[in-house]
Amino acid sequence: MVSPPRLLLCGDVFGRLSQLFKRVSSVNKSAGPFDVLFCVGQFFPDSPDRLDEFMDYVEGRSQIPLPTYFIGDYGLGAAKVLSAASRNHGNAGFKMDGLKICENLYWLKGSGKFKLHGLSVAYLSGRQSVEGPQFGTYSNDDVDALRALAEEPGVVDILLTYP
Ligand SMILES: *[C@@H]1O[C@H](CO)[C@@H](O)[C@H](O)[C@H]1NC(C)=O
Repeated sequence: MVSPPRLLLCGDVFGRLSQLFKRVSSVNKSAGPFDVLFCVGQFFPDSPDRLDEFMDYVEGRSQIPLPTYFIGDYGLGAAKVLSAASRNHGNAGFKMDGLKICENLYWLKGSGKFKLHGLSVAYLSGRQSVEGPQFGTYSNDDVDALRALAEEPGVVDILLTYP
């Protein structure tokens, strides 16, 4: 039998990826190894002085050490990074298992359900939309789609939402 996956969860990241992956590395040493990191809460920076560090990862100058999925698709730089990812060929179509931002980094957009290491993961990303579609928000359509997925047979092991 395949051993179950080992997951790490974290809240607001605010773009502090160096600090995050340093922490992941030390937890991985003491209690790992871990297969996946899920981030809920704000993933992008909330202050301009964090943007360089964040973009170092997104643009491949710094490495992300394990597959990382986020739903908090808002903050500084979000519109730029996410619109570039949306235009990327590899991300075309209906990708419920995450749009690839860079090596090991995946954006869970809108709502969806996918299989990861044998687990069924469902999500609703972003915050509630007040003024129509934009990055960082979910729409009523996303909620309806999630309701439809919830009615499919089978167990959902993990539901990611925030706030
Ligand atoms: C976690 O530890 C394993 C070895 O036990 C290593 O292969 C893996 O790269 C480490 N992952 C992270 C994210 O540090």
